[in-house]
Amino acid sequence: MVRPIRVAVLVSGSGTNLQAILDAVEAGAIDANVVVVFSNKREAHALTRAAKHKVPTEVLEANSTDREAYDREAAALIAKYSPDLLVFAGYMRVVTKAFIERFPDRIINIHPALLPAFPGMHAQQQALDAGVKLTGCTTHFVRAEVDAGPIILQASVPVEEGDTVEALTARILVEEHKILPQTVQLFAERRLRVEGRRVQILPASEGRAL
Ligand code: GRF
Repeated sequence: MVRPIRVAVLVSGSGTNLQAILDAVEAGAIDANVVVVFSNKREAHALTRAAKHKVPTEVLEANSTDREAYDREAAALIAKYSPDLLVFAGYMRVVTKAFIERFPDRIINIHPALLPAFPGMHAQQQALDAGVKLTGCTTHFVRAEVDAGPIILQASVPVEEGDTVEALTARILVEEHKILPQTVQLFAERRLRVEGRRVQILPASEGRAL
């Protein structure tokens, strides 16, 4: 048992990955508390999920194209909650280098493909178009290049004959909801060591309390 880490979850939409984290927290399955949910979209359903779990929310809608200024304001809002870890769970903004540097090796993202295959938008459609037989999902540390940071966990999902984007998306989400809480727990146990482009997962005995 380690001290629960303070997690900020950044969202833009439905928030099923946020829900997976909130459920894992409530089940006592991970040593973490969600201290804030931040959204760049006021209408994001994820905000309703946060409210149901009495988690504070912050909303900052972009009213200009100045990404640096937006990220400065967003980082300041999030930093107020002193998070140990930031989780991008369907956060549909590309963040600036300055934002990433404010939280070094403390930002993770979940992507619905087996990176480095199919980065960017519409990863499931990309997989169908490429005709791959296996796709999946990836958690990784966030770097300035989109969907390119050191990979933490991956889960594979078969592509089936006649698959639609919707069916494939739903099957991938089932796996996302497993690997994302697992990744948070590995971080909480201090078992993730970043070495260049690789992440070494230390045995449980070598993790240390924060
Ligand atoms: C997920 O597929 C995630 O991998 C991607 O955006 C989607 C968000 O879904 N980055 P949700 O909002 O967590 O339901």
